[in-house]
Amino acid sequence: MKVIRTIPEMQTSVKQERREGKTIGFVPTMGYLHEGHLTLLQKARETNDIVVLSIFVNPTQFGPNEDFDAYPRDFERDEKLAKEAGVDYVFYPDVREMYPKEMSISVSVQKRVDVLCGSKREGHFDGVATVLMKLFNIVNPDQAYFGMKDAQQVAVVDGLIHDYNFPIELVPVETVREEDGLAKSSRNVYLTEQERKEAPALYASLQAAKERIGQGEQNPQAILSFVKNYIETHTSGIIDYVQIYSYPQLTEMDKLEGKLILALAVKFSKARLIDNITWTV
Ligand code: PAF
Repeated sequence: MKVIRTIPEMQTSVKQERREGKTIGFVPTMGYLHEGHLTLLQKARETNDIVVLSIFVNPTQFGPNEDFDAYPRDFERDEKLAKEAGVDYVFYPDVREMYPKEMSISVSVQKRVDVLCGSKREGHFDGVATVLMKLFNIVNPDQAYFGMKDAQQVAVVDGLIHDYNFPIELVPVETVREEDGLAKSSRNVYLTEQERKEAPALYASLQAAKERIGQGEQNPQAILSFVKNYIETHTSGIIDYVQIYSYPQLTEMDKLEGKLILALAVKFSKARLIDNITWTV
């Protein structure tokens, strides 16, 4: 496994691999790797000759009230995990390498951002799209892997790839769950014992709603009320949002049909949990 810190070296290495006919799978991350990232790496490893992992805490996707400096970092640990996961190249640039000067062109995401968590993080997805445009041009992958835990990010990346004609296949990877259905997250450790017992009800509420839609319920408002009621009955969490949209367009629907996302965010005493399911009706 090679750790690369400069853009020209990354581009040259990938060019050489491509010349030899190798396919490139890419997993972009901000480091501090967890099981979700390892699943993405595993999927990339299964289908590609070469796996590139990027580790870059991207300042442009942090808002003024979000602490870029406090974002957890542990490169030594990440490097070890990457090696174990069979990564070929770790692209690990610093901020000056990625943003040497003020940019003369900015990326502004127009759609799919004013809903779900994006509505509370103004400019966040502009930063995500900016860094991914750069990373896609640097790594030039055949496939790029993203976790469905952040389904809105996957929707934005889908728009980016299509609108700007990147010859990249977007590979969305299912959320990794605990045995009781709770989506794995580093935030789960902040739940109290009682909250941890309640938390699987979030995923259960989504599944129960899916079943209702499967049985013929087509009214979005009825489904949202059902999920809210389920969460209020089964947990002590405070609902931040429960929303249902077409996917990946993230637009409202009068009638529930086609591909959908049902997503929620719920605040417990010390952790805000998010979850979603996508499926086709
Ligand atoms: O999901 C993340 O970790 C980041 O948003 C990404 C895709 C690596 C871009 O900085």
